[in-house]
Amino acid sequence: MDEEKSKLRMDELVKILDDANYNYYVLDNPTITDQEFDQLLRELEILEEKYPDFALKDSPTKRVGGLVIDKFKKITHTIPMLSLPDVFSYDEIIAFDERIRKSGIEPVYVCELKIDGLSVSLHYENGEFKTAATRGNGTIGEDITHNVKTIKSVPMRLRKKETIEVRGEIYMAKETLKKLNQERQELEMPLLQNCRNAAAGSIRQLDSNVCAKRNLDTWIYHLPNPEDYGIKTHYEALEYMKELGLKTNSSSKLVKGVNGILDFIEEYTKKRPTLSYDIDGVVIKVNDLASQKKLGFTSKYPRWAIAYKFPAEEVLTKLKDIIYTVGRTGRITPNAVLEPALVMGSTVKRATLHNEDYIIEKDLKINDTVSIRKAGDVIPEVVERKLERRTGSEIEFKMITNCPICGKNLEKKPGQVDYYCLNESCPARHIEGLVHFVSRHAMNIDGFGEKIMEDFFNLGFIKTIVDIYHLEKHKEDLIELEGYGKKSVDNLLEAIENSKQNSLERLLFGLGIGGIGDKTALLLARTYKTLDTLSEKTKEELQSIKDIGPILANNIEAYFKDVDNQTLIHNLKELNINTTFLGEEIKESEWFSGKRFVVTGTISFMGRDEIEHIIENYGGQASSSVSKKTDIVIVGENAGSKETKAKELKIPIWNEEQLYKVLKDLNEV
Ligand code: IVH
Repeated sequence: MDEEKSKLRMDELVKILDDANYNYYVLDNPTITDQEFDQLLRELEILEEKYPDFALKDSPTKRVGGLVIDKFKKITHTIPMLSLPDVFSYDEIIAFDERIRKSGIEPVYVCELKIDGLSVSLHYENGEFKTAATRGNGTIGEDITHNVKTIKSVPMRLRKKETIEVRGEIYMAKETLKKLNQERQELEMPLLQNCRNAAAGSIRQLDSNVCAKRNLDTWIYHLPNPEDYGIKTHYEALEYMKELGLKTNSSSKLVKGVNGILDFIEEYTKKRPTLSYDIDGVVIKVNDLASQKKLGFTSKYPRWAIAYKFPAEEVLTKLKDIIYTVGRTGRITPNAVLEPALVMGSTVKRATLHNEDYIIEKDLKINDTVSIRKAGDVIPEVVERKLERRTGSEIEFKMITNCPICGKNLEKKPGQVDYYCLNESCPARHIEGLVHFVSRHAMNIDGFGEKIMEDFFNLGFIKTIVDIYHLEKHKEDLIELEGYGKKSVDNLLEAIENSKQNSLERLLFGLGIGGIGDKTALLLARTYKTLDTLSEKTKEELQSIKDIGPILANNIEAYFKDVDNQTLIHNLKELNINTTFLGEEIKESEWFSGKRFVVTGTISFMGRDEIEHIIENYGGQASSSVSKKTDIVIVGENAGSKETKAKELKIPIWNEEQLYKVLKDLNEV
């Protein structure tokens, strides 16, 4: 194909692909199959590679991300981006209507859904998409153009060559959030609380590749300069924006009078759970633009619109009991046992009550009728007790004074809110302590989950750490247990035996001495080389190590002075468990071996130090600046200039997911 023909074909492909995007994402009416789309996109990509000069800046091929920015530039809104006054009751809607009528206006309203996302301003010049900005403080927002380009419902070219600013909401569909959270759960990453936070977090990415994967969407609902286009009403503005190819919401409705508004609210209160996106209320706007002008603005809001917010879904249920759990550190947490209740689609039976003060502050009594809701739509929370529902049969709350498991007195340190069971041999603390001992960063005994430990504990096979190494004695019993079998028992016993060879830091971390994390354990093991040497150090001596403060030093000294702990250590040594620092074995992995890495940005599942540590453990090198010598750059959230440099130098980049997969493969996460 000669150059001219190629250029024509490229223009044609852009048009076909833009139209396909429009039909699919704006009109929700696909005209070609995904396969056809991908094929045409590939054809365009190939032509663009061959003729980069003909490639459009806003080509459909650029919608998959690619652009990474250093920081967000500021964009000034020539017309301030105002928000709306919230109202929470029908009375306030009636008052709004009365106020408008008093000013001599006979209003027609447009009722719209209040989309729960974040507002955006889009600028087009001669029909071409130019910039997108967040609301910011209303006057100055942030430039999010690179990310908005990846939102398929935002047209890169309008259907008319108009120069125009439009505003609307960027949101994430409920299903998209669900899938994203499923993926994050599999990767053991923190879950995103709701669609709004997920959308806002995605749009605040410096790397548009991340945003592109989040499948954001838009509803456009506001034209700041309608008179420039000869438009007389808000509803006409919506229709005009739709004509331009922007995605407007078809539920927007013209209504007369308060009853029309209330009907709309009732209708969408019912439909809300069936919508594919989250709404948090209904926006009511005066339709006629001349009337809007007459009503004007306060310093913060337009006088011609309000936002009715749906009440947060709170459900009444009964507080049947307050029960307590004991953590590995002995911390006691009170939990509400609730009459099962359906809140936003899932059954809630328990909610944390955090601590004694929290319960006292909320004045909760057992048998109280309480309202519950999902904080951030995810975590159940008790909002308040309903005083008017008290019958006199309620039981006064009184914080327990003894451990629910071992019965020993609980203690509360001055100035703290939490109670602790300080009984080191409290069985509840033991299960968690045991689980901690065998966990990956401690003795790393494969095949020992929490459930297995609980079973063995309850069967009396394992009560203390030492018992783990005597499990062999129960081999026949274990094989007989439902769900175990010879093979898994053999594997488990072998893993236990192998763990005896671990380097000191693993044992030290596994012992669960207050405040000793895996890094401190490594530091101590490296410094003192043997458990015996460490155990003889005074707290003053310990504090001579950088990073060991007085509390930690105190804990360490106290731990080794304790007679029970001395017996434990003696017994572990008798079992031939290694108590010396073996240095770090350099492990083998083609992912890291001999390669130079730079880690930049925030990785959600692991600290940078730890990642660098693993790289070095596998014979790689971790450095802080990107150069031609760098082999791979690992980028987390808000990575910034190092990522840009990596792209310039065409150095391969791993994102969080890729890193996770590699680490998982190596059993490091
Ligand atoms: S109109 C001057 N319409 O709710 C009018 N806002 O507090 C500007 N929102 O910041 C806003 N859906 O982010 C409008 N259909 C809708 C909306 C909507 C959601 C958001 C928007 C705004 C806030 C109002």
